Amino acid sequence: MRGYLPAEAGTPEVEPMIESSTRNVTAETKRMNAGVRSKERHSRAVSALWQHRPFDRAHVDPALLVHYATLAASSHNTQPWKFEAGRDRITILPDLTRRCPAVDPDDHHLFASLGCAAENLLQAARAMGLEGHVAYDATRSGVRIDFEPATPARSALFEAIPQRQCSRCAYDGSTLSANELRTLEATSRSAGTAVLWLTDPGSKERMAEYVAAGNTAQFVDRAWASELRSWIRFNAREALATGDGLYGPVMGSPDVPRWLGMLAMRFAFSSRAQNRKDIAHIRSSSAIVVIASGSDDREHWIDAGRCYERLALQAASMGLRTAFINQPVEVPALRSEFATFVGLGARRPDLVVRIGRGPQMPRSLRRPVSAVLA
Ligand SMILES: Cc1cc2nc3c(=O)[nH]c(=O)nc-3n(C[C@H](O)[C@H](O)[C@H](O)COP(=O)(O)O)c2cc1C
Repeated sequence: MRGYLPAEAGTPEVEPMIESSTRNVTAETKRMNAGVRSKERHSRAVSALWQHRPFDRAHVDPALLVHYATLAASSHNTQPWKFEAGRDRITILPDLTRRCPAVDPDDHHLFASLGCAAENLLQAARAMGLEGHVAYDATRSGVRIDFEPATPARSALFEAIPQRQCSRCAYDGSTLSANELRTLEATSRSAGTAVLWLTDPGSKERMAEYVAAGNTAQFVDRAWASELRSWIRFNAREALATGDGLYGPVMGSPDVPRWLGMLAMRFAFSSRAQNRKDIAHIRSSSAIVVIASGSDDREHWIDAGRCYERLALQAASMGLRTAFINQPVEVPALRSEFATFVGLGARRPDLVVRIGRGPQMPRSLRRPVSAVLA
């Protein structure tokens, strides 16, 4: 199966030798030049990745559907999915080698990520004239999508796939119009899944308190910090080498050599600094959304992921930004109190998202389709 990403997005990078006519070019200069070239290659890989691809409706290529699926969100950009393409069917399976046991011990986020991929795949299939029917495959814990021919429809959600991103930055604090709220609500709604909207300043302050309490609990957890570190790509070279993980600039940090990034994490990585940033980001947001699926199991965690992806695509199509603030649902000791605060009672809140108007942030990469399609 041919891959759709440019080879450089996912293949290990071999730094080309730097040609130098002078002998006194220092090792430091060489490293800086290599860094500049990696950033250029990263930026080319990003441009090639985050755009629509041409397709032939008469011969839908499963690899192209999978490509669109991989542009979905995934926890820590782990891309914990494998795809199996059969006749008129694609199955999305969990890749358990990409688990994050510290932040996600029951694989809740992993299965939600499969839901995100499924939603992108469905939107792309519809654009290519295929209606997908989703079923949960309990024996394999996968998402089975069976296709039948349909009238092609390029939905606003499909058009927005290359625009969606997690924008971890301050928004402009403006309110959403009643019309915007109605559209976002209507798109994210699905049977059995609750989507709760918090827009008043008082609720945002309480939300900021929960997120801060979550940061405080997570930052003292060494396993959590070490797992997060293992998914951070401090510079473009690292991001290009793996095609996954959290590239520093995506999170508002500079592109730095690994040694410097590790040093910064050791001395500047603190819950206090994170809280300052998160509280300001929450206050700047137009709305906070809490997603709670119908039941606390894998099948319904997938539903929660689908719900987020639809919401985020709809928001992107309206020029709005989204970012997760999941700390209150990730820390088990906080989760039930948080559920009571948002009025969910004994139900599990799955995902927390903030929405608003703000700038585009740098983009993350993906592994090539050939790495995930059996
Ligand atoms: C289930 C799930 C949980 C996530 N949790 C967080 C989170 O708590 N904080 C955060 O900043 N991003 C979170 N993310 C966003 C991912 O880090 C992001 O999707 C990934 O890095 C790829 O970036 P992109 O969505 O901009 O393409 C989550 C994504 C998913 C699907």
